[in-house]
Amino acid sequence: MSHPTALITGGTTGIGRAAAELLRERGHRVVVTGRDPVTLEAARHELPDDVVVLRADARSPADTDRLVEEVRERFGTLDVLLLNAGITRSMPFAEVDEAAYDEVFDVNTKGQLLTLGKLLPLLADGASVLFTVGAGVRTGIPGGALAAASRGALLSAVPSLALELAPRRIRVNAISPGLVDTPIWAKNGLPPGALAGYAGRVPLGRVGTAREVAEAVGYLVGAGYVTGQELVVAGGSGLGA
Ligand SMILES: NC(=O)c1ccc[n+]([C@@H]2O[C@H](COP(=O)([O-])OP(=O)(O)OC[C@H]3O[C@@H](n4cnc5c(N)ncnc54)[C@H](OP(=O)(O)O)[C@@H]3O)[C@@H](O)[C@H]2O)c1
Repeated sequence: MSHPTALITGGTTGIGRAAAELLRERGHRVVVTGRDPVTLEAARHELPDDVVVLRADARSPADTDRLVEEVRERFGTLDVLLLNAGITRSMPFAEVDEAAYDEVFDVNTKGQLLTLGKLLPLLADGASVLFTVGAGVRTGIPGGALAAASRGALLSAVPSLALELAPRRIRVNAISPGLVDTPIWAKNGLPPGALAGYAGRVPLGRVGTAREVAEAVGYLVGAGYVTGQELVVAGGSGLGA
């Protein structure tokens, strides 16, 4: 029996890595990408041997072309594409300049959308495409406008993509995590342990785990009649006034 195939951009740490582990446990052959040589090396050692770890900077069209060729050679077709690579920058909007804008949008928006475009020919009929977006796109937080705008652009693309790809039975959905404990916060300058201090703001009283977001990914991968939707995985954040 042939195994379903999955590509996860930004799968070396955090949510992407947890999704790689979960899909592999469920019988998928998995490729993950990342950019930082240190986390790439760690992922190669720590993920199961049959998970393929590739360097592909989401900002680089040449890297994306190489990635597409690798996926074509290894898998032929793709059953799951999780467009997850991303960064966050918390900064007052008065400090947002062109360099910051380009940095965030190049990875979070341009990188993910152009990767999807280049992979369209490889998507199997009936494939599942998922964007990692973020619950903050709707709720807002001071300093969060730039990152929210970059992920919100992906969310607004989902309904049109779902309609466009429906004739091939390809489903397109978004996963929106709330506060989830991953390396992204340390990369954004949050001291170790500080994220837990935000738990009181979450109705369920704690931050989430990458595995909990991965479970939602697993649900949408198997949810054959769901397309064009956003699944919020945020412990109740964003509900109410
Ligand atoms: N954690 C949260 O609370 C939260 C909330 C809302 C939304 N999100 C979104 O969820 C997604 C996953 O984040 P996470 O929390 O799991 O953070 P993470 O652990 O930092 O994972 C981000 C992944 O993206 C990769 N990446 C970053 N820049 C890249 C680039 N230029 N090219 C290729 N890969 C790149 C990282 O690899 P390197 O280490 O090699 O850079 C890593 O594998 C992100 O899109 C983030 O915006 C997270």
